[in-house]
Amino acid sequence: MKWLPHVFGALLFGIGLSVQPAQDVYVIVTGGARGNLAPCGCTKPMTGGLKRMANMVRELKVRHGALWIDTGDITNAPGRQSELKVEAYAQVMGELGVDAFAISPSERALGEGVILSMKSLAKGVALDPSGQDSVTLRSIRIAVEIPGFPHPEADVVITRDPQHREPNIVSVFPSGGTSQADRFQVSPGEALRGLVLLRFRDGVLADSKAIPLEPRVAEDPQATRAYNSYLNRIKTERLAEKVLKTDQGRFAGSTSCTNCHPSATKVHMKTAHAHAMSTLKTVKHELDPDCISCHSVGFDARGGYSPLQPKKFAEVGCESCHGAAASHVAQPKVYKLPKVGEKKCLTCHTTRTSPGFTFLKNWTKIKHR
Ligand code: HEC
Ligand code: HEC
Ligand code: HEC
Ligand code: HEC
Repeated sequence: MKWLPHVFGALLFGIGLSVQPAQDVYVIVTGGARGNLAPCGCTKPMTGGLKRMANMVRELKVRHGALWIDTGDITNAPGRQSELKVEAYAQVMGELGVDAFAISPSERALGEGVILSMKSLAKGVALDPSGQDSVTLRSIRIAVEIPGFPHPEADVVITRDPQHREPNIVSVFPSGGTSQADRFQVSPGEALRGLVLLRFRDGVLADSKAIPLEPRVAEDPQATRAYNSYLNRIKTERLAEKVLKTDQGRFAGSTSCTNCHPSATKVHMKTAHAHAMSTLKTVKHELDPDCISCHSVGFDARGGYSPLQPKKFAEVGCESCHGAAASHVAQPKVYKLPKVGEKKCLTCHTTRTSPGFTFLKNWTKIKHR
């Protein structure tokens, strides 16, 4: 039984540490997914995502015994897919032990049922401006702001940006300041691209650090399981068959243009646009409504892409840019198609999916007239 003294030594050492006067409390701040539980992978490298976030949270909890608070804004749209996102996110919060999480208007808008399942999955303290709006954890008082009531007594206040440009802000009062002017604001940013680590010493903010979730951050296996089961639910609930469709004219399909526009077709077939749906298949997102709209023809239009006929319109086709053209196909001289320009490209080539996109540079790669 030689090891016993060592154990006692370690125990005493541990106790010795815990009565030291300076007490650091670390607080992890996450949130602001706004529907982006995973980076889409449209460009590489891409930062962020639930899986990396979970990995970093786990690491910081082990390293610093950090508290974890989440500022909400999980989704940005109504609908079933958003409900599933909230549940997957809440499941990860529950599995990794979130201490407190804010319920923001985007989650609230999904209805009481979603809020209830969110609370039961996440398990931590739910902070809600219309319910329990604050909690004290290890002497750190955390609150969500009720518009007009800035919670001067709290150490950390989860605030909404009035313009809603940033999804969520956390206001912290350094050195015991209590006026609005003393506020110091941090935000984990949009789309889970990073998180923030706050350090309080003896109850006063000592420093804060933004930690980006870069590709070198590993993916947490538990969060990966939660994310995969979210993707499976999208598929089994067949959400891609249930999207709202509007009238945008009749689509003909790219093959119907071939005879009259052979050279344009030849160019088009060599571009990445022509296999945009098989790209989605490769990454197993071909049934994900979040992805299909930019990787197909007319997903949000009646008569456009549908997973029930997965071979039809399964590309960024002629009509993705030129618009529904069945009438033109029938009577080209009567039905003219509108001019296409940069604006059309930018509906899919956004700053997120295609950073650095310029019409001049990219048009030359697909030019067909
Ligand atoms: C807003 C439109 C849009 C949405 C939504 C979108 N994509 Fe993309 N995607 C693009 C564009 C544009 C490109 C080409 C980017 C470039 O090369 O500049 C692309 C490219 C890709 C590529 C190829 C990247 C490569 O290295 O060649 C993959 C994979 C991809 N997207 C996956 C997805 C997935 C998965 C989703 C859904 C989670 C998704 N996309 C949603 C527009 C979109
Ligand atoms: C409906 C959505 C959509 C529209 C509109 C769109 N693109 Fe794309 N674009 C994509 C997607 C998706 C990809 C990636 C396809 C893949 O790799 O599977 C892509 C890829 C490209 C590529 C290849 C990227 C590379 O570097 O290899 C170029 C170039 C391009 N687009 C130019 C344009 C231009 C120019 C316009 C406007 C005239 C335009 N795109 C309009 C969705 C779109
Ligand atoms: C990524 C978007 C995009 C795709 C996909 C695309 N085009 Fe175009 N197309 C353009 C743009 C932009 C122009 C040049 C501006 C204009 O004339 O509208 C153009 C020009 C043309 C023109 C010449 C128009 C003129 O006034 O001279 C024809 C014809 C044409 N496209 C046919 C096709 C056919 C057929 C396909 C499919 C095989 C196709 N395009 C696919 C964007 C696209
Ligand atoms: C039956 C032959 C025919 C078919 C099929 C056809 N076009 Fe055309 N297209 C024409 C002719 C002819 C013109 C020139 C019209 C003019 O100059 O008056 C034209 C012109 C265009 C233009 C230039 C703008 C305009 O309307 O004048 C675009 C863009 C275009 N076609 C795209 C398409 C696309 C996309 C398809 C397939 C969905 C398609 N066309 C199918 C014959 C055809």
